[in-house]
Amino acid sequence: MVIEKIELNHFRNYEQLSFEPHEGVNLFFGKNGSGKTNLLEAIHYCALGKSHRVSQDSPVIYSGERVGSCNVTVRGKWGRNEIGVRLQPGDSGGKSVYIDRKKVKKLSEMMGVLRCVIFSPEDLDLIKEGPAVRRRFLDMMISQISRSYFIALQQYRVAMEQRNAILRTSKMLMQSPDPMIEDFEKAMSEYASTIFRERKKITEMMGEESFPIYREISGKKDEIFQIQYHSFVKKEEDLNEYNRILKENREDDQKQGITSVGPHRDDLHLTLNRKSMKMYASQGQMRTGALTLKLAQLKILTKISGESPILLLDDVMSELDLQRRMNLLQEIGTIQTFITFSDEGDLDASQGYRTYAVSQSDGRARIQEIKSGPETVKTLLCEPDFSYD
Ligand SMILES: Nc1ncnc2c1ncn2[C@@H]1O[C@H](COP(=O)(O)OP(=O)(O)O)[C@@H](O)[C@H]1O
Ligand SMILES: [Mg+2]
Repeated sequence: MVIEKIELNHFRNYEQLSFEPHEGVNLFFGKNGSGKTNLLEAIHYCALGKSHRVSQDSPVIYSGERVGSCNVTVRGKWGRNEIGVRLQPGDSGGKSVYIDRKKVKKLSEMMGVLRCVIFSPEDLDLIKEGPAVRRRFLDMMISQISRSYFIALQQYRVAMEQRNAILRTSKMLMQSPDPMIEDFEKAMSEYASTIFRERKKITEMMGEESFPIYREISGKKDEIFQIQYHSFVKKEEDLNEYNRILKENREDDQKQGITSVGPHRDDLHLTLNRKSMKMYASQGQMRTGALTLKLAQLKILTKISGESPILLLDDVMSELDLQRRMNLLQEIGTIQTFITFSDEGDLDASQGYRTYAVSQSDGRARIQEIKSGPETVKTLLCEPDFSYD
């Protein structure tokens, strides 16, 4: 798919922007704090209805304003769509999503209209940090290809919050839990099975895709990268047992006011030569691992949906050595890509690509085209002296 137009209104430091990106690679140069990530964040909003870096909508609205919005016109294999996200936090309006100028009733309706994969320096957290980061990665990815997954995820959370609320109340009142808890546990079990099956299926696909990608990027044949889904469900049949497990755990859960078992506690286990990457891998291996996960995500989204998502590479080029950068660009091929750089020294290496300068003055961001690239990215990749060093 291709983004034909991006329009921002009071979004982060963009007072107003109307921008038509190139169908291939777009490079954005600018000092730190100029508005490069903000632009990618707007694309992420139009794909998933939320930011990739903050959980609240209010920081995203241009300082001093009450309403902010981002709009993207996307051309995919099913035609052209305009996606609009209007943010008005703290008001009854909240967040509204529009597809072709019609307000959608549920956020799930926007899933898959625009798909994106974002690479950022924080991807290292996928290896280094706790399970929540990896679950979020899986959830964001699967939601873009399965609306029923996104709905199951939302409904599971709602049912779990209700269960937790009942447990907390019963603790406070020193009474047995409200019988309604049965209904919420039943709902949790149903949604948990959709979540588990989808995550398991995608993790298996990730494993297959990742293995050769890791080798390719690292250039080391003896390094075996593997991914496994670690769940509270040990055997498929245990899924039927979830309802019973929830019931059994009520007393313990009541003490803590939380639900201790379920897909909200699952994890992706990443290993290199069968050793936990989090515990044993070097910084370089972790970087390769994180990049591998994102490239595998790209491949799977493309395979399942039958078209390439939009690629967003935020400040990751400077972290890769020349060989890894070249490998990454080869993988990208002709996919529409937005790449940001904060190092102006890299500007010399942008020959041939559509290049823009992002700057901020008086708190307002501005994007200016500084170079037009040739028609296709392919020719660029053949440039013999293509290098960022
Ligand atoms: N809600 C907002 N309103 C106005 N400016 C904002 C808002 N949120 C962030 N900014 C400004 O945006 C800039 C950071 O933009 P960002 O895209 O993260 O920078 P970078 O180019 O380094 O990626 C900072 O100057 C910050 O003050
Ligand atoms: Mg940035």
